[in-house]
Amino acid sequence: MPLDPVSGTVEWQALEAAAKAPRGRRVKALADPARLQRFVAEACGLRLDLTRQLFDPDELDLLLWLIEDREVMEQAEAMFSGEHVNGTEDRAALHTALRAPAGTELTVDGLNVDEAVQAGLAKMEQFAHGMRSGERCGSTGERFTTVVNLGIGGSDLGPRMAAAALRPFTSPDLDVRFVSNVDPTDLDEALAGLDPATTLFVVCSKTFTTLETITNARAARAWLVAALGEDAIPAHMVAVSTASDKVTEFGIDAEAGMFGFWDWVGGRYSVGSAVGLSLMLAIGPQNFRDFLAGMHGMDNHFRTAPADRNLPVLLALSWLWNGSLAEHETHAVIPYANDLRLLPAWLQQLDMESNGKSVRVDGSAVDVNTGTVVWGQAGTDGQHAFHQLLHQGTRTVPCDLIGFAKSVDPANQRGQDLLVANLVAQAEALSIGRNEKQTAANGDADLAVHRKFQGGRPVNVIIAKQLDPTTLGALVALYEHKVFVEAVIWGINPFDQYGVELGKELAGVITPELEGQAQGDHDPATKDLIAAIRSLRD
Ligand code: F6P
Repeated sequence: MPLDPVSGTVEWQALEAAAKAPRGRRVKALADPARLQRFVAEACGLRLDLTRQLFDPDELDLLLWLIEDREVMEQAEAMFSGEHVNGTEDRAALHTALRAPAGTELTVDGLNVDEAVQAGLAKMEQFAHGMRSGERCGSTGERFTTVVNLGIGGSDLGPRMAAAALRPFTSPDLDVRFVSNVDPTDLDEALAGLDPATTLFVVCSKTFTTLETITNARAARAWLVAALGEDAIPAHMVAVSTASDKVTEFGIDAEAGMFGFWDWVGGRYSVGSAVGLSLMLAIGPQNFRDFLAGMHGMDNHFRTAPADRNLPVLLALSWLWNGSLAEHETHAVIPYANDLRLLPAWLQQLDMESNGKSVRVDGSAVDVNTGTVVWGQAGTDGQHAFHQLLHQGTRTVPCDLIGFAKSVDPANQRGQDLLVANLVAQAEALSIGRNEKQTAANGDADLAVHRKFQGGRPVNVIIAKQLDPTTLGALVALYEHKVFVEAVIWGINPFDQYGVELGKELAGVITPELEGQAQGDHDPATKDLIAAIRSLRD
């Protein structure tokens, strides 16, 4: 059935006009204490503060109207219950089932999902216990000291980000590294100084066909074989995949050495599946369970909380206002926690691979701007790089600032206070600013025009007590569901990614051309570029 275009509604048009209107009145409205009640919501240990957004309560009502009109919560229910919400690939998107407590009944396409998920987790846990206790050894009988995860995109970013974020919860006895790039220097750097006898590779690829991962896996295999011989492979290489035939073809025993998952787990939504194996090895099974519990808590909140108190809904509406209605092109995500520095990279894939779409689920063109360009860096480093533009540039860059009140390590609390004070300061400076008069009164009369801060920059603040596994899980699921809410409003499918395919195909054709083994049919500019690289290369 064709979708009604969201832009055709009177409500959308009113919202668009408001979002594009001059901002002066709106900045003043920030001083209204009544905003706090409606614009701050809490769940699962996260406090989401939208008070520095430039919409007023009436406009929030209109935004919430979109949730009803576009049947967002009905679509969420369809997702949770295993319907094939990923229409173009004709599959469910059931990442939420990965973190549901044992005993949650759900049958999808004839599979008892709970049984399958719990069996998968049990296999991972048994392996992780063996690795961490030293019971499971390498081919020479030595204890493993290093794990190298070979994967890219969703098979890398989630576990890599979470392992860094949960650094204080990792074991000092097991160094877990991540290699993603097909550039051989990535693997070389990770392997520098390592002993093959104490190194385990986790080859992580949903499809087990991804060029980067398979290339790195072959190089890793050769590195092991050169040092330990062919027979060492079963002890030193395991696979995480949905493609047991490809894993077997590669030379890993799918029964003993593969951790499976299912096609209804999208790559960028897969950290709670076997894709999280390297993360589990780093933080241990109990912390991994806590991470899953944090995600489940947010899933439950998203599924049951009223829209006006629902964190993923509110966060999505603030992004929608800024990206789709006010048409700000980018959104900065700035974690005030060094351990969380990879969050923007993880979120880039989650958000931009999911919502960078121009065609709706019914095949019609989208009628409004969809996915936002996501970027960011850990605070306070970003303050010394790009904040100048955030404060005084001509472009408006909405921001999410994320911070934690307590350090996991009590010895670091003073540093933590400095960090969070900076977060609060940035939120205030970006939204309230300092006008020319105040600046002049501050003694800066001559340079007041240069030193004033316009304010009115839209800011979300997300605060939690501390960066622990449960909190991180809640944060991950918050952003996953934010992406989903926006997708439903726009009428797009957030679970496919056809936009990554053309480049992959062309690279497959061009590689032999660069190596002089073939000549392809390309446009003149591409032919010229290939020739230029060939002449430099040879
Ligand atoms: O970048 C495209 C993509 O297909 C992602 O969606 C996916 O996360 C990544 O490649 C890796 O895929 P795989 O896990 O199959 O190796």
